[in-house]
Amino acid sequence: MAFVDEKLVAYYSLKQDGESLWLDNLWVLPDFIGQGIGKQLFQHALERCRVRGVSILKIESDPNAQAFYEKLGACKMDEHHSTVDGQLRTLPIMVVNLQGRIATLYLGDTLK
Ligand SMILES: CC(C)(COP(=O)(O)OP(=O)(O)OC[C@H]1O[C@@H](n2cnc3c(N)ncnc32)[C@H](O)[C@@H]1OP(=O)(O)O)[C@@H](O)C(=O)NCCC(=O)NCCS
Repeated sequence: MAFVDEKLVAYYSLKQDGESLWLDNLWVLPDFIGQGIGKQLFQHALERCRVRGVSILKIESDPNAQAFYEKLGACKMDEHHSTVDGQLRTLPIMVVNLQGRIATLYLGDTLK
């Protein structure tokens, strides 16, 4: 969770899935978007993975957030398709391999 002046402005959660973890949620309140809070929380999530000895973090991303995750070292590996109110919905599945080159390049500081 992230607080500004004691107000909860953002949070994330992780969900175990075998030997990997899913980033279950990552939300920043609209008034606080674009201030680096999402990046800090994502890096915190990666640090939690590392501490738990988990090398793969998966994300079912909102399509609008895909570029955000790519910027932070995630790669698209798949898509989830569903139907919501008769409309086809496609969500990118992103992955960060914490043992891989991508993590080393983009997240070296958090891997030390
Ligand atoms: C997606 C989200 C978590 C990003 O959080 P944020 O606090 O706004 O992001 P940050 O300010 O930490 O941005 C980090 C970097 O990513 C970039 N970025 C942020 N959102 C982006 C987007 N949607 N597309 C492309 N780049 C993005 C920023 O420009 C910034 O780049 P910089 O480091 O070069 O300056 C936030 O916008 C959000 O909560 N959105 C609504 C809910 C949502 O879609 N959550 C994801 C569910 S899977």
